[in-house]
Amino acid sequence: MLVLYRCALKDLNTRMEILLDDFNNRQENNPIEHIKHRVKSYEAIAEKLHRRNHPVTAESARANLSDIAGLRCICSYAKDIFFIAEVFKRQPDMKVLNEKNYVTEPKPSGYRSYHLILEVPVYLTDSVHHIPVEIQIRTQAMDFWASLEHKIRYKYKQGMPQHLAEGLRQCAVQIYDLDERMYKIQELIDIAY
Ligand code: GTP
Ligand code: MG
Repeated sequence: MLVLYRCALKDLNTRMEILLDDFNNRQENNPIEHIKHRVKSYEAIAEKLHRRNHPVTAESARANLSDIAGLRCICSYAKDIFFIAEVFKRQPDMKVLNEKNYVTEPKPSGYRSYHLILEVPVYLTDSVHHIPVEIQIRTQAMDFWASLEHKIRYKYKQGMPQHLAEGLRQCAVQIYDLDERMYKIQELIDIAY
């Protein structure tokens, strides 16, 4: 089953690489810093199903989890996030199953990112499979916060102490402010040259 998820990611990743080539050929500013992807491990799939009181079977994973295949697209500036989301949504053979804008509406933790779940067709010799892939689009600054916060949160299985959560939330606000300041500097450069 996981092979199908790997194939869906390969397809999506190749499409994004082609777009990167296209930006570079046109010598336009490339809005994408880098792309990474992963298929959830068996252990992580089983843990999540168990935690949510679902049966721990392949069928149940397919039915209950939409983040078995994940692709993360890290871009330069916050405004690029919406452009890149549109690029993904424009793929004519992929259906948008879900969309969450945590960029303008951050989560209570302070987390910001744009999430899309796309259904990617995988063509095998005798069948077609529609595979959900979770796409997270965020700036480098948002990514910096999310990966450190994730590591800290992971240490506290029973929930993070309130003062730490509040400290992290304040960091997220400052990081968003930095993102905006960097964008304003870039705009000045764009006007000057
Ligand atoms: P899951 O909880 O992952 O099944 O998804 P959900 O239905 O709650 O969707 P949501 O969009 O909230 O989260 C999906 C993914 O976004 C998570 O698996 C994380 O990778 C990321 N994410 C969401 N909230 C946070 C957060 O507060 N901190 C960090 N570091 N990552 C988050
Ligand atoms: Mg969640």
